[in-house]
Amino acid sequence: MMVLLTGATGFVGQRVARWLVGMGHQVRCLVRRTADLTNLQPLRVEIWHGDVTDPASLPGAFAGVDTVVHLVAIIREQPARGITFQRVNAEGTRHMVAAARQAGVRRFVHMSAIGVRDDPRYPYWHTKWLGEQAVRESGLPSVVLRPSLIFGEGDEFFTTLADLVRKPPSGLFPLAPMVPVPGRGATRFQPIFVEDVGRCFTHLVTEERFLGQVVTIGGPDLYTYEQMLDLVMETLSRRRLKVHLPLALMRPNVWLLERLLPHPPVTTVQLDMFPFDNVAESLDVVERTFGFRPKRLRDEIGYIRKSTAARHRS
Ligand SMILES: NC(=O)c1ccc[n+]([C@@H]2O[C@H](COP(=O)([O-])OP(=O)(O)OC[C@H]3O[C@@H](n4cnc5c(N)ncnc54)[C@H](OP(=O)(O)O)[C@@H]3O)[C@@H](O)[C@H]2O)c1
Repeated sequence: MMVLLTGATGFVGQRVARWLVGMGHQVRCLVRRTADLTNLQPLRVEIWHGDVTDPASLPGAFAGVDTVVHLVAIIREQPARGITFQRVNAEGTRHMVAAARQAGVRRFVHMSAIGVRDDPRYPYWHTKWLGEQAVRESGLPSVVLRPSLIFGEGDEFFTTLADLVRKPPSGLFPLAPMVPVPGRGATRFQPIFVEDVGRCFTHLVTEERFLGQVVTIGGPDLYTYEQMLDLVMETLSRRRLKVHLPLALMRPNVWLLERLLPHPPVTTVQLDMFPFDNVAESLDVVERTFGFRPKRLRDEIGYIRKSTAARHRS
């Protein structure tokens, strides 16, 4: 089968590409001209240059394509470069869907996220929701995947936490390095291993039973934010003072950091999403749905010892 994959150079996409190639599919990756292709080089994939925000660059990519796997989205905006949630997550998906319809593809597999909602107060979730809507309204045979937080080497969440633990913001307490915890730190997550997400896609691209479905996935354990921070400290063998800060107090600081740092550890958009639990319906959802047991965060998190959040994407 010929699969057109977007977002293949990203954290999740490089795994999806490997899994699809491993299943014997022909994979064509739609990548921007500026993309770093290092992670794709060992794979037998075809490269097609295009940008989801530029509809004119898309149609050629669809020649001979049976199935589209659309992963592209951003979690951080760069308004100065015209890179906004609306343009990439919402309109980019609309352009992909339109080109897919034109080409008559047989299936559109769309990457969404737990938490999506029709509420502009949460622009990441809202534009991911609009992307989902574009897929649903297209009439294309489609599948939507909504994962919880994804972990693995190269992730942003855990490597940023690890960086914070290694180099806590000294600020007012230079002698007692502390790590801020937003609110009560009680928001719950169900982290899922990135290789397991890649493996799920091998089922989503072929099996009839997924057509028309929204599939929500998470890993085998629930963690609160604070428990994840504890696990990061334990893994790095570093104890830090945890300071719970009300979100209302963190917000102006985060707002300021966004204006001072090229890549702040957290953005106001992310902070606003923080109070909402990010969990799938059950802890065995992957095993029940896909027939394999996903890896546990505790068993895999060792990668944070060597990786830092140096590389961040647009
Ligand atoms: N990571 C998580 O915890 C998580 C959780 C739930 C859902 N998701 C969803 O999973 C998907 C992938 O996330 P990720 O963590 O792998 O993100 P990522 O590492 O930031 O990768 C994003 C990918 O999109 C590409 N891209 C960005 N703008 C583009 C454009 N205008 N045209 C073409 N390609 C473009 C990037 O290419 P370049 O190499 O050129 O930058 C990169 O390959 C997203 O839909 C996200 O919402 C992620």
